Amino acid sequence: MAVQQASTEIAARTASIVRRMLDLEGPLLPILHGIQEEFGHVPQDALPVIAGALNISRAEVHGVVSFYHDYRKAPAGRHVLKVCQAESCQSMGSDAVAAKFRQLLGIDFHETAKDGSVTLEPVYCLGLCACSPAALLDGRPVGRLDDEEIEEIVAEARS
Ligand code: FES
Repeated sequence: MAVQQASTEIAARTASIVRRMLDLEGPLLPILHGIQEEFGHVPQDALPVIAGALNISRAEVHGVVSFYHDYRKAPAGRHVLKVCQAESCQSMGSDAVAAKFRQLLGIDFHETAKDGSVTLEPVYCLGLCACSPAALLDGRPVGRLDDEEIEEIVAEARS
């Protein structure tokens, strides 16, 4: 019963977002952004509501959600760590930075630690190129990442 209530509530909140954006040109992506903002991810129960409103199949909506890694299919962890993988950061060693985060957290990009503490995501330029390699922890920019700083961030993200 509780599961059904949650699913009904998700459908109702989704329908309200869809109604606000339905008249936009190419409404699917803005609707998905709106839903991710609302729920922190794109819940499965939102898909049929979107498909019905846009007159497309649920599989098409699912395909778009899967194609764009920005859309989470499950709730994020308590902290979200985004590690820049764009050109300037690449040239300053962001591959090694990402490898160190993966190793210390025991997860890959687009995964959440089993204890729910942190979700690791790639991001493509944070506008912090002068401070490459850079990352964002819960929206807070951190730059010039070295081993010590990475370890501090991991400790904070696990808290
Ligand atoms: S390339 Fe990483 S902040 Fe710009």
